Amino acid sequence: YDTKTPQYSTGDKTSFAYISARDRWPVIITGGIDDVHRATGAAQDPETQREGKKIVEGLAKLKYELQHDRHLRWDRVEETWKLVLTRDSPMPDDGERDVAGYNKELKQLGNPKWFNVPWLYSECYLYRRMNTLFSMSSKWKNYDIFARQKMSTFRSSRPAVTELAARYKELVTQLESGTSETQSPEEREAADKLLFTEMCEICLWGNATDLSLLTNLSYEDIQKLQGSEARKASEKNIIVNDLAQAFEVLNKAKKAGKKERRVDIILDNAGFELFVDLILAGYLLSADLATEIVLHPKSIPWFVSDVVPKDFGDLLNALANPQAFYTTPSDDDKHAGKTPEPLSDKEADELSFLFQRWAGFHAEGQLAIRPNRFWTEGGSYWRLPKTAPELYEDLKESELVIFKGDLNYRKLTADAMWDPTTPFAEAIGPLGGKSGIRTLALRTSKADVIVGLPAGKDEELRATEGGGGDSGCRKWAWSGKWAVIQFCDGKS
Ligand code: F6P
Ligand code: MG
Repeated sequence: YDTKTPQYSTGDKTSFAYISARDRWPVIITGGIDDVHRATGAAQDPETQREGKKIVEGLAKLKYELQHDRHLRWDRVEETWKLVLTRDSPMPDDGERDVAGYNKELKQLGNPKWFNVPWLYSECYLYRRMNTLFSMSSKWKNYDIFARQKMSTFRSSRPAVTELAARYKELVTQLESGTSETQSPEEREAADKLLFTEMCEICLWGNATDLSLLTNLSYEDIQKLQGSEARKASEKNIIVNDLAQAFEVLNKAKKAGKKERRVDIILDNAGFELFVDLILAGYLLSADLATEIVLHPKSIPWFVSDVVPKDFGDLLNALANPQAFYTTPSDDDKHAGKTPEPLSDKEADELSFLFQRWAGFHAEGQLAIRPNRFWTEGGSYWRLPKTAPELYEDLKESELVIFKGDLNYRKLTADAMWDPTTPFAEAIGPLGGKSGIRTLALRTSKADVIVGLPAGKDEELRATEGGGGDSGCRKWAWSGKWAVIQFCDGKS
């Protein structure tokens, strides 16, 4: 259940793996240290303070080990948590089943060091190991070191949020008022297809803004990425676009009068991206292209900005009272002595409309959230049928499974060094062919792996400015500027 094609490694200086391990991960850990330090300072309870300090120490130690190219093991953890680890269990057992898998793999990899280890595994290990510091504490068990960042970037995406809320209200009101009844079925279908495309593309580019790349993007850059103008301009940057096939599948099931039609979204990031995922979900339900949407979040703080169940609740809470959310000054506002502008009545009304729709769908069971620990294991999705058979069976029930973002794409393709013309269905291994799952990947490219390209495309993009040229680096694929939308029908 693993690919034989070698995976990208942090030891390869031409890949983004190396740059990630060298430059990005230390910054991310430092951000975590600052956050816990701040929260510890604000805590009243002495035990919370004591544990907070230990967590800071543990994070600092992890950063040291990474930067000094030590082994991926935690051999002095007993000093922190009074746990004794053996050589064979370098990740401490916090009671979750995935620990054994992480440890087994580490052994199979031959006790590797940080700068010579498969990228995919080591990056997952990094987040999982940070999490053990919290899960083994008593006061910080469910603490999310990235929560503050996630909410504050959502707040700063206000212009795009209000623009989309307005668009959503207009669209859904139109769909419900039946103005489209004057259209012929062909016209209606063409309109549905166009809207489906627009919604999916909004959902795709919503991913360009993940926080783990924030280490080199400013808030202004992010806001620019989110507006509708930017989206239109970016269409030419979608280098493979299989949306028409995905629409066909949903439309066919609808026309066949199939009663239960489920769409699953394997979520990526919280904040703005989750907001646009919900816009897509709401649209699919209102347009009757699906009757049920199942969202799959992560179970632990993951790759900085990924959605954990609490983020879903936090987003709905923010929208339940949008005026209060946007006018309560954030810490940064307070610092800068700024008072945020209130929303106009129209904006507040459009956001409330959205909230009511989503809360309604949620209450009716048409919009569900379903966590599974499989999503935060260290391996690729090639392992889904073997290591998470129940989840695999569950996903077979779906008409379409949408995988959002870069990491999900890396996991689908096992983060392996495929020739870029390798067909998508081949690169996703057991999920290709007759897997029983229909896969749609919406991915803005932020890593080296890429498949399903027409011959010559990789070379053409390498030759563009900043594309990597003759350096041996596929730089064009690292920045989030280019995207692919790839589909594989595992049911036919
Ligand atoms: O390549 C940069 C990176 O942070 C990777 O570590 C990871 O695959 C990805 O981007 C995270 O992005 P996304 O949120 O789109 O999965
Ligand atoms: Mg992410």
